[in-house]
Amino acid sequence: MESKIINEIEIRRAKREISEEQLAYVKANLPDADYWAMKSPLIILVSTSLELDCRLNDKRDYALFDVGLAAENLILQAAREGPIAHPIAGFKPLTIKEYFGIPPEYILITLIVLGYPGDDSFLNEKHRALEHSGRIRKSFEEVVMYNSWIKKEKG
Ligand SMILES: Cc1cc2nc3c(=O)[nH]c(=O)nc-3n(C[C@H](O)[C@H](O)[C@H](O)COP(=O)(O)O)c2cc1C
Repeated sequence: MESKIINEIEIRRAKREISEEQLAYVKANLPDADYWAMKSPLIILVSTSLELDCRLNDKRDYALFDVGLAAENLILQAAREGPIAHPIAGFKPLTIKEYFGIPPEYILITLIVLGYPGDDSFLNEKHRALEHSGRIRKSFEEVVMYNSWIKKEKG
């Protein structure tokens, strides 16, 4: 199946809607630990303001919930079409916000780094091992509780 996301990126690159200069600026404001993001052709800035959505007085701010859902949909759809999308929290939010003119009341909650699966020889040992290993997830019992918050004892 042809990839819509890849096609879209290529069209936008051709139209110069994706600026190499701005992409390079974002990359320059990532920590060394995000070296793997340097090959990405597209980094998506995910931002929202708490005022854009329902705010309840028991600390429920739905803007972050909603933007998280949108990010997850994007990540899943990217994986379906080909590119891999990694959300990251390691970046300089204030510097990047200022550069892109994101208003102060907006939260730059994550960057989504898009990349194509390919040669992994530039990855460090730890990341290369992670790339090819299975994922360890918490057990169902640890994350789902029935009828009360009290966790069932193991064994
Ligand atoms: C909120 C959040 C922030 C993350 N920040 C970083 C980061 O700064 N640097 C990094 O290398 N990975 C970061 N990750 C992890 C990667 O994006 C990770 O590859 C992704 O969560 C997929 O997990 P998996 O590779 O275990 O399937 C972050 C993940 C989440 C959910």
